[in-house]
Amino acid sequence: MGKFIVGLIIGIILIPAAAAVYFAGGYAPAAVNDPPFPFERVIAGTALHARIARSAPKRELASFTTANIVDGADVYRHHCVGCHGLPDMQRNRPEPKMYPDPPKLFTPDGYVTDDPVGVTYWKVKNGIRMTAMPSFQNVLNEQQMWDVAALLASADKLPPEATQTLKQPLFPPPPPANGKPTTPSGTAPKGHHGAPQR
Ligand code: HEC
Repeated sequence: MGKFIVGLIIGIILIPAAAAVYFAGGYAPAAVNDPPFPFERVIAGTALHARIARSAPKRELASFTTANIVDGADVYRHHCVGCHGLPDMQRNRPEPKMYPDPPKLFTPDGYVTDDPVGVTYWKVKNGIRMTAMPSFQNVLNEQQMWDVAALLASADKLPPEATQTLKQPLFPPPPPANGKPTTPSGTAPKGHHGAPQR
């Protein structure tokens, strides 16, 4: 009985009190550069996997054409490059840090080529809570979300046309110093989303 009471006191008073001191006392990780919370990745990862297993749709990579993958590359260069990078990208300047860090999806360490296309589609559509990974369902249509997922599923065997598309600059180059546009017709090429001309 005595042991039981001690256990009860520990359980209902000391543990919550210790947790309160840990969180309210400023000991828990909150800054990007803090070390991870104990079991943080396991807990977050388990919830994410369970949720995705329950709701990700299924579709074979083979059902996408090269044209789909090239369209996915166009989506990617407009919406994803800033966080997830490009193939062969040289990182020669410091980047702002995020926690968790966005994986570089075109390097072998960051490839999601082993994930089913539907899982990647789910992540693009719904985002990943408590991380910088946004949900794109208000920005991209269904086809675009599938196409970019198919692109990432093919990251280790990209069709050359997709690599080309990824490498295209987002904005037309700035006009030369004399202010004259560079194209023969006198009009700068129009950006994909009607990007403002400079
Ligand atoms: C503002 C930064 C940001 C942008 C923009 C962004 N992401 Fe992410 N993304 C992240 C972060 C951070 C993670 C890591 C989340 C985690 O660790 O759970 C992530 C994770 C992912 C993952 C899961 C990777 C894995 O290993 O399971 C995929 C797939 C992904 N992003 C695809 C995309 C696509 C496609 C786009 C563009 C349509 C995009 N992301 C745009 C930040 C971003």
